[in-house]
Amino acid sequence: MAIRNIRTIGDEILTKNCKPVKQMTPRIAQLIDDMFETMYGQNGAGLAAPQVGILKQIVVIDVDDGNQYILINPQIIAREGSQTGNEGCLSVPGKFGVVTRPEKVTVQALNEKMEEFTLDAEGLLARCICHEVDHLQGRLYVSLVEGELRDNSELEDEEGEEEEK
Ligand code: NI
Repeated sequence: MAIRNIRTIGDEILTKNCKPVKQMTPRIAQLIDDMFETMYGQNGAGLAAPQVGILKQIVVIDVDDGNQYILINPQIIAREGSQTGNEGCLSVPGKFGVVTRPEKVTVQALNEKMEEFTLDAEGLLARCICHEVDHLQGRLYVSLVEGELRDNSELEDEEGEEEEK
């Protein structure tokens, strides 16, 4: 496994549409392993392949619910309700902003064995799926932010007391 370089906002690759994966190969398996390692190295909850410079429809997610989600060629097939809250992105370092997303989504995707599955997600996982699927379509959350994009230092000030518990 290896940590890959994360592309940041301003890099054109983050604005492009990703291509579907047609078959699993050792290279793609390696990419997925590297995406997890890169994401964990930055304390991220999700990472999409274009963030490491690969225009393929691959997403990895870990929102601390005990699962490591791999979504290949994901399609969100249902959305329900809404949630409004803070969001950040490893490609927009040091920033966060308020984004409204569906409270629940159903996503259809392929796993690492290229088997189709359907996942019902809510809360943080639903938010994360929406954010990562947007990456595959060249969209960053900054285009959805309500109000100002803010610095992480402000968030740490607000949450300082809680984190010391
Ligand atoms: Ni992101």
